[in-house]
Amino acid sequence: MTDPSVIDLPRRRVVAAIGAGMALSILSPFARSTGVEYPFTLGVASGDPVPDGFVIWTRLAPMAGQLTATVVVRWSVATDPAMTRVVRRGQKLADTNFAHSVHVEVTGLEPGRPYWYRFEALGEQSPLGESRTAPARDQATNRALTLGFVSCSHWERGYFSAYRHLADERPDLVFFLGDYIYDSSYPAGSNKIIRAHALTDISDLAGYRNRYTQYKRDPDLQALHAAAPSVATWDDHEVQNDYANRWSQDPGVDPALFLKRRAAAYQAFYEHMPLRRASLPRGPDMRVYRRLDYGQLARFHVLDGRQYRTEQPCIQPDGRHGGHVATCADLDDPTRTMLGWEQEAWLRDGLRQSPARWNVIAQDLLVAPLVQKDLQTGAQGHWTDGWDGYSATRTRLLNHIDASRVPNPVFFGGDIHSFWTTDLQVANKTVATEFVGTSVTSDGPPYEAFKAILPLNPHVRFFDSRQRGYVSVTLGQRQMETRFQVVSDCRDPAATVSTLKRFVVEDGRTGAQDA
Ligand SMILES: [Fe+2]
Repeated sequence: MTDPSVIDLPRRRVVAAIGAGMALSILSPFARSTGVEYPFTLGVASGDPVPDGFVIWTRLAPMAGQLTATVVVRWSVATDPAMTRVVRRGQKLADTNFAHSVHVEVTGLEPGRPYWYRFEALGEQSPLGESRTAPARDQATNRALTLGFVSCSHWERGYFSAYRHLADERPDLVFFLGDYIYDSSYPAGSNKIIRAHALTDISDLAGYRNRYTQYKRDPDLQALHAAAPSVATWDDHEVQNDYANRWSQDPGVDPALFLKRRAAAYQAFYEHMPLRRASLPRGPDMRVYRRLDYGQLARFHVLDGRQYRTEQPCIQPDGRHGGHVATCADLDDPTRTMLGWEQEAWLRDGLRQSPARWNVIAQDLLVAPLVQKDLQTGAQGHWTDGWDGYSATRTRLLNHIDASRVPNPVFFGGDIHSFWTTDLQVANKTVATEFVGTSVTSDGPPYEAFKAILPLNPHVRFFDSRQRGYVSVTLGQRQMETRFQVVSDCRDPAATVSTLKRFVVEDGRTGAQDA
């Protein structure tokens, strides 16, 4: 099927334009005999499956040559990995507006089955990708669904073995829950740096593109995207640490200026993720909260925890946002919101009307309240950048889940670089289950210090911050099994994987049980 927006440029003109741009470039190891540099250096990806299709993505980014011309990219989707039975094909123009990224919303496929896809441009073929459609809306599938979720992959802290091992599981769907890239870098010469960012701190479109390009060249990240469709949301580091809406974490930054940075960061996110047109950025605004339905088995509510928030409460005397505070006047203010009023209402509606047995809320942060001790002073308090800074939103949401009897609500989260299993409670009654995954590479919080606060937080069922990895989930009609997967050493590109802990949630019974 050909995309109607496509105009077939004369190939001669395209190649001539590339040739001119390439004249001074150094040929990469991927260069083919055609003399045109290999353009698919960032791999392929698919995402946001529905019963009759999914998005397929690539971006033309030759190693050395800067593309300036508009390029025709052909795509095809087949029912077999040899690509002999092609069922959909088309072409799309890649141009400088979105950094030669290509997002194709493939439709007309059959529900609940695997497909393979590939792109062609400039006489070259992309790597092969595998994807899978969602089950049909009325399908009461007996087949268990396999999922993975990941977060927090700081390039400089190690290798992405967690991605490789999750790819090896060939899950039906992968959730990227934020900090897919890091805007900030360790100081040059730091012994923390296992492999360095190409640029240090970034704040404009060229900088963010550079960062994604570097991460996307990672073979383990490419393997994961090529193995399974994904659903991505963001946390803070896709823009800046602890930013909130239009406010930088740094004191005194003009919100209008910060929105320019946010626009650049959001655009680069769009350019590098398999997102639908519904997520096209408009200036500093971009819709990433959305729902996915997997037949009658599961509804996934994917949240945006950053774009619409009220400013963090308890802004510190030096003007810095986000931090450890004992309390302050606006901490529990019900007029404050983490998700924004529209998204809060959208989430409540989606939960209340859900046709699914399982309701997974996929988002960026630890949801459970957490009484912490300041690492320096030992004073008890809360971290205001997370849900603890927005307790009114959490209370509204958990009350709604309780009152509406939402079937099997389970939260997935990240950000805190450690594994957590918690009971989410209203008046000491557990109304939802929470699993938070550790980081892919980023440093975890100090284990002993956090272990020491667990008695203050009896709703926490499990915590470990000592290892890096991901979370693997098998979701059936009767139970959800969750496995906390850890890699042997993220500084080792050949790290092995093992299971640290398993939990089961049974249909109709809120809360995780040891498995
Ligand atoms: Fe992080």
